[in-house]
Amino acid sequence: MASQNQPRGAFIVLEGADRAGKSTQCQMLVEHLTAKGVAAELWRFPDRTTAVGKMINSYLTSQSEIDDAAVHLLFSANRWEKREELLRKLHAGTTLVVDRYAYSGVAFTAAKGLPGLDRAWCMAPDAGLPAPDAVFFLSLTVEAAEARGGYGEERYEKAEFQRKVLDQFAAMRSSSWRMIDASQPIDAMQRQLREQAAVVVARCQRGTEAVGKLWE
Ligand code: TMP
Ligand code: MG
Repeated sequence: MASQNQPRGAFIVLEGADRAGKSTQCQMLVEHLTAKGVAAELWRFPDRTTAVGKMINSYLTSQSEIDDAAVHLLFSANRWEKREELLRKLHAGTTLVVDRYAYSGVAFTAAKGLPGLDRAWCMAPDAGLPAPDAVFFLSLTVEAAEARGGYGEERYEKAEFQRKVLDQFAAMRSSSWRMIDASQPIDAMQRQLREQAAVVVARCQRGTEAVGKLWE
């Protein structure tokens, strides 16, 4: 039984600071996979549709104030509450292209530089969540992001803070991350993502690899 192959969907995460183009690229990738006959869905974190997600949305849009530690745990809870569905989809053969995951969770809270909320503390609540099969990091400088028309209105969308977020991402970057230059044209970036995603999807379809766990 243990040696039996279990084809499954791939768990693909796109990460990066705000304005790097993650949402556009995720959407294009899902459309491409679907057109190729690969069952694929676009997911994003935070998922603002759940009860927890609504609290997060009200915090991000400055309609509410939430303690920094508490809101960090809400972002993590928002991933845990989707865990069962995520695993169910993967095992049913659906590839999930996910716009942000726990890496954003750690980078954004650790970037606040608050006593007690260091990177190790930030990582702890996400330990044991399903680990992605691939992390694509869309790399863009704050200057280039600002040249794109600047940031939005939400909490965290400020150049000075984004610089600190990029530092945190750099500190936690693992050798398995695939770095994508997000300053290149949309289509060129998408071509690169498609090529690399195809390899990951094929690997998961062979069914020899179980879904891993963060931060193992
Ligand atoms: P979004 O712009 O992709 O919807 O993400 C909303 C903001 O939330 C973005 O600035 C990154 C931040 N964030 C966290 O602070 N912690 C998290 O765990 C996640 C997923 C996002
Ligand atoms: Mg945003």
